[in-house]
Amino acid sequence: MNGRIPENILDEILSKVDIAELIAAYIPLKRAGRNFRARCPFHNEKTPSFMVSPEKQIYHCFGCGESGNAFKFLMQHERMEFTEAVEYLAKRSGVVIPQLRGDTRAESINAQIFKVNELAADFFAGQLFSPQGKAACDYLQQRGLRRETLESARIGLAADSWDSLINFMRKKGIGLSLLDKAGLVSPRQGGGYYDRFRNRIIFPVSDARSRIIGFGARVYSGAEKETAKYINSPETAVYTKGRNLYGLHLSKDAVRRCDCAVVVEGYLDFLIPYQEGVENLVASQGTALTEEQIRLLKRYTGNVVIIYDGDQAGESAALRALELLIEEGVNVRVAVLPEGDDPDTFVRRDGAGSFRDLINGAKEIFGYKLEILKSRHSVSGTAGKDLIAGEMLSTISKFQSAVVRSEYLRVLSGEIDVAEEALIEELNKIRSGRQERRSVIQVKQEAAPETVSPAEKLLIQLMLQENELISRIRESLDPSDFQSLTASKIVRTMFELSGKGMDIGAGTLMNHLEESGVSGIVCDSFLSSEDVSEEEKEKMAHDCVRRIKMQHINNRRRHLHQQIKDAQVSGDRARLDGLLKEFNTLIQSCKG
Ligand code: CTP
Ligand code: MN
Repeated sequence: MNGRIPENILDEILSKVDIAELIAAYIPLKRAGRNFRARCPFHNEKTPSFMVSPEKQIYHCFGCGESGNAFKFLMQHERMEFTEAVEYLAKRSGVVIPQLRGDTRAESINAQIFKVNELAADFFAGQLFSPQGKAACDYLQQRGLRRETLESARIGLAADSWDSLINFMRKKGIGLSLLDKAGLVSPRQGGGYYDRFRNRIIFPVSDARSRIIGFGARVYSGAEKETAKYINSPETAVYTKGRNLYGLHLSKDAVRRCDCAVVVEGYLDFLIPYQEGVENLVASQGTALTEEQIRLLKRYTGNVVIIYDGDQAGESAALRALELLIEEGVNVRVAVLPEGDDPDTFVRRDGAGSFRDLINGAKEIFGYKLEILKSRHSVSGTAGKDLIAGEMLSTISKFQSAVVRSEYLRVLSGEIDVAEEALIEELNKIRSGRQERRSVIQVKQEAAPETVSPAEKLLIQLMLQENELISRIRESLDPSDFQSLTASKIVRTMFELSGKGMDIGAGTLMNHLEESGVSGIVCDSFLSSEDVSEEEKEKMAHDCVRRIKMQHINNRRRHLHQQIKDAQVSGDRARLDGLLKEFNTLIQSCKG
């Protein structure tokens, strides 16, 4: 993890970064004694079990077990690479990272791709506003986009050529391999590459931090029937379709301010309303809103209005998105466009004011779904009732609030004329089925991680809190005395670092250990035993050492016992003698 950047630099960065301040920029933190508390950004919860400790420079969620230091937070939350997170925090805290052995190549592949994308976007924009871009400019103008919108969205043009981008990049000293990694070229069959985007309008796709991660490209010269209307970047180290939201970098402040995000489908469905002043928008770029996109949105708001195209495909996409949004605990409503419209055509014809009215009048999903189902199936027949009830109950069951569920049951009962008791019975079946499935999954997951005994955990805690304890414990315990492999690794690392005379905190320790299990153990009980006196801690530590030794001996004894039995069965006298001797020595050491 830390091959290139010196450990003391990592530690220096961590000691200068206020982890509470860092995290508070993403989620609201509430003070709780020495720590801060919040609703966990990594899983869905109602009661806050996510803790941040400024003293220990770590965060930990008691609900889902996510934990780590400032680097890990950025890696988890912003999907940064380790080096990226280090560079980001170094800059923020004013720590200079020395170049290693004059190595200027230290830049991560992600950073290189971002740079190339940046250059490409500038190149494409230059093309659009050059004489060759006239037809494309006319097309965009005819679609209602003004020059300043083209500029703020950095829209461009890929020329009708196989190699104009490749040639441009070559002059900048950028080779084909990096262009390939950025998804800007396609391999030729006989070898070599050609420009991926040709004769298309270019829509750069940015992440929330305004870094260009990929491109969408639309035909504009009437070739729509011969070729795909849109093509997109392939998957790269920084771009995966369905993980980002188009326009979020432009709209995130408005989304926060309005505490509501309007989700539309396409590039133009974002650009036109945005240009006309409806700014709290994002585009899903295709029909199905993914879980990742919802998680991304949830960092900015818990309220979503979906506006999908007024056709059957849009309707079905909206229905699918709704279920996901409810499961993620997002408060969601749906606005319905007139048949044949999308937000782009609607705003151009009826204006932003009507679009706002549409958003404000968005329906709660319950009513929206029921209406669609009633238009597709008859409520007079038993089969239709059964089908609608099943569909609606599946949605109702996903709401976390029992009050909401009960209210919807009452309404549904009236709408399809079925007794409420029958609906309740069916709902309970769905919910208990889901709970069973969930508990099976949970049991499986819980059995997986290695168990660390309370004594081992507590001792690690104590050593972290009182570094002076480490050298003394080192004399009486060997890392191999620990039953858990993870605990033994942590302790070995602590012994090593303390041997070098380093201060060891939870946050710094994590830089030296890679496994994910480690941070969980380190953070798990960081709240307990905080206000214990040093004297008591010393006592507790001794007690832990004793218990760990006992555990070790007991295990060893059980193991020997089994081996002795095996030797007896196989009649191996020599081996049996050796084992018995070892057993006796062990028993003696117990008494001593
Ligand atoms: N899309 C895509 N790849 C495709 C088709 C669509 O990525 N082959 C994404 C684009 O982000 C597009 C959105 O899905 O903007 C919606 O597609 P569609 O409704 O077909 O296009 P519009 O956005 O309406 O495009 P336009 O108005 O330019 O015709
Ligand atoms: Mn459209």
